[in-house]
Amino acid sequence: MGGGGVSQLLEQIHMLSRRCLFRVLSMGPLPIHLAFIMDGNRRFAKKRGLEDGSGHKAGFSALMTMLQYCYELGVKYVTIYAFSIDNFRRKPEEVQSLMDLMLVKIKSLLDKESIVHQYGIRVYFIGNLGLLNKQVRAAAEEVMKATAENSRVVLLVCVAYNSTDEILQAVKRSCADKDVERERERVRLVDIEENMQMSVAPEPDILIRSSGETRLSNFLLWQTGHCQLFSPDALWPEIGLRHLVWAILNFQRSHSYLEKKKKKKQL
Ligand code: FPP
Ligand code: MG
Repeated sequence: MGGGGVSQLLEQIHMLSRRCLFRVLSMGPLPIHLAFIMDGNRRFAKKRGLEDGSGHKAGFSALMTMLQYCYELGVKYVTIYAFSIDNFRRKPEEVQSLMDLMLVKIKSLLDKESIVHQYGIRVYFIGNLGLLNKQVRAAAEEVMKATAENSRVVLLVCVAYNSTDEILQAVKRSCADKDVERERERVRLVDIEENMQMSVAPEPDILIRSSGETRLSNFLLWQTGHCQLFSPDALWPEIGLRHLVWAILNFQRSHSYLEKKKKKKQL
């Protein structure tokens, strides 16, 4: 058997073992929505003595593998923090290199053999897209349009995003929809919720932030009130199946408590 044959066989063995593992995990409650803060990409490059930018490239590969695991497991929604509004304050060369990478990778989602076609993913780009350059914005819009008919699973890519901006825009839209001068037409909580860009998905059940950091960094502040947080020490490009499994086991352990909390919120 040639080298290619051996690696194909190994891949099949891994897939079968994952299937068994996921079957066991699905005996308990499974998350519907997983969110990720993909932190530690530059530290990964530094640790391995790689050139600037290769950490983020490795981060994209890790993301594709993680998405595959999530969708194999049956998770319907995945949200990722790909670029925050605050990231625009990084060195101009770094912002440019991240935008170049983003452009190539967003376009690659349209390829026939991409994960989007493999799993029938609907992709949303969430954030202040007007802050992106023309090409990245056009590519993002093209992917959203091309996947608009997909419904099996959903990927929400937060770019030029932060939570306070999302809330501010939702409040502005809610006010614009109303005649706020009139008492009867005061803006209600439900108006703001409906105008949040993230309202296309339910609240995340689990938020994973890599690299051992425990900050939310202005990500999904409105949506994470009842969310299980998990912060493995692994840098984002090092994230793997074991981290996902551990996060789900933690979620399953506190599931009934979190459900009770959510029910109280509805009362
Ligand atoms: C944080 O790591 C990560 C980012 C600023 C960007 C991550 C983006 C990708 C992996 C590509 C995503 C692309 C698409 C199309 C979805 P960091 O730069 O803060 O690293 P550090 O914590 O080590 O400094
Ligand atoms: Mg960081």
